[in-house]
Amino acid sequence: MEHLFQSSAIFLGTLFFLQVSAYPDGKVEEACVSMSPNHGSTAQTSPAPYSLSVSKTSYTKGEKITVTLTNTSSLQMEGLMIQARAGNSATPVGYFEVSSATLQTLKCTTDGSTVSHSSNTKKSNVQVTWVAPNSNMSDIKIRATVVKNTTLYWENVLSEKLIYAGSGGSQLLVPTLGHLLLSSTLLTCALLAL
Ligand SMILES: *[C@@H]1O[C@H](CO)[C@@H](O)[C@H](O)[C@H]1NC(C)=O
Ligand SMILES: *[C@@H]1O[C@H](CO)[C@@H](O)[C@H](O)[C@H]1NC(C)=O
Ligand SMILES: *[C@@H]1O[C@H](CO)[C@@H](O)[C@H](O)[C@H]1NC(C)=O
Repeated sequence: MEHLFQSSAIFLGTLFFLQVSAYPDGKVEEACVSMSPNHGSTAQTSPAPYSLSVSKTSYTKGEKITVTLTNTSSLQMEGLMIQARAGNSATPVGYFEVSSATLQTLKCTTDGSTVSHSSNTKKSNVQVTWVAPNSNMSDIKIRATVVKNTTLYWENVLSEKLIYAGSGGSQLLVPTLGHLLLSSTLLTCALLAL
């Protein structure tokens, strides 16, 4: 009984530690879906003092797009998480390439689909490359959670919408009623000629 009690106390102590500890190494795969840090505090509801911009608002298959996350006030970032999501889906799309030693990519469903910090050094301007998916997905936005410190963070920092402009798009080939009539006439003629 005493043994059980001690184990429980150690177990609860560990849970408590996990709950309040920050994640300076950014290994936050458990936040893949929520994109929320487990700091024991809640997200700020004020507009985020950070902005997320993209080098282009349209993409083709596998196109590389530069994503920039910057502070719009003096509050630098200690932690961050970035994903691209389509509509209301929580599954990230495409993947990221990072070149800064203060950043890393994580596997959330697919390899490299998430960016996080690799140390809690203060960052003011974060640039990463997003590699677009190979298909037309509607309503893609880049989304970030930015952590100023363990008590202060913002969720849902969003980029503009990215629209598919890839080949295989049928917009120029959409037949008009005239085309349809013409082709059915041609088809009828072809059939009659047989
Ligand atoms: C962002 O943080 C850096 C470093 O503290 C600072 O130099 C810069 O002015 C900040 N940007 C804005 C828009 O305040
Ligand atoms: C977090 O940052 C805010 C704003 O700079 C500061 O007021 C607060 O004391 C900081 N909290 C911690 C735990 O460092
Ligand atoms: C991509 O999908 C959307 C929504 O289904 C559609 O409106 C749009 O025309 C498609 N774009 C291309 C280039 O196929």
